[in-house]
Amino acid sequence: MSEEFVSRSLEELRFWSRIMKEHSLFLKLGFRCEDKQLISEADHFYALFESIENRANAFTIGTDPNVIRKFNEEVYQAVSFIWAFKRKVLGLIVTCQLPGANNFPLLVDHVSREANYFRNRLSELNLGRLEPLPDAIIDENVFFLRIMADHAKFISHLLDPSERKLVEQANHFSQEFDQLLFQARDLESMRPQSQTVPLLDQFLDQNRVSVKSLRDFKKTARDLIEACRIKSIIHPLLADHVFREAEHFLFIIDMFENSLTGKPVQMDVH
Ligand SMILES: [Fe+2]
Ligand SMILES: [Fe+2]
Repeated sequence: MSEEFVSRSLEELRFWSRIMKEHSLFLKLGFRCEDKQLISEADHFYALFESIENRANAFTIGTDPNVIRKFNEEVYQAVSFIWAFKRKVLGLIVTCQLPGANNFPLLVDHVSREANYFRNRLSELNLGRLEPLPDAIIDENVFFLRIMADHAKFISHLLDPSERKLVEQANHFSQEFDQLLFQARDLESMRPQSQTVPLLDQFLDQNRVSVKSLRDFKKTARDLIEACRIKSIIHPLLADHVFREAEHFLFIIDMFENSLTGKPVQMDVH
């Protein structure tokens, strides 16, 4: 049980601390040159989450669970601070106090939702209070489908408008994931009656198909951006970041599928 606690904690800590570190960089890149205070706050969070990431990577499965518990609490505080910073930035943007800055309000809201998600995971882990499986399946999918729908919108808006084919593909994914999100919310409002094994299994299967194709699209976009073969204002690291988040969602879907049906998790080789 305590080994499970350590391994789940390390998994979440390693994945999300890198994500938080990269958010700091993306926010910084979107500020104006004169926003020196905001830039230095972003630099501070970058260094903070880089050190958290390094420490999380140095722990092992054999680390004392009490050490991990303390570390989770410490990271919880850091994540609360970056969440507050992101919400502050969102406030400044939507009240037009940063004219000409380059972070979309939805992107700033999005990265704050990811911080909030990470914070909840840490507190759930430390309290040892996990949601019942049928609730977790619906809640996690509602969360991640919206994240995926947002990613498609960001890609569409950050590609050069002259990349007409790719913009069209990104818009198509945006619509597809909006629709999947509505379906997930329908299932959510029909619970507990909707929480049958066949319905949840079908829900996971359907979402997996779309997430795989979005994941492949992001991978292609990332490779094209890295090779400088397409016109966009997407940072190569942002392209890789959204690709990794899709991979993470797929991993969660497979984990749920496994718990629901007892089938072994099939990891995709790519
Ligand atoms: Fe992110
Ligand atoms: Fe994201």
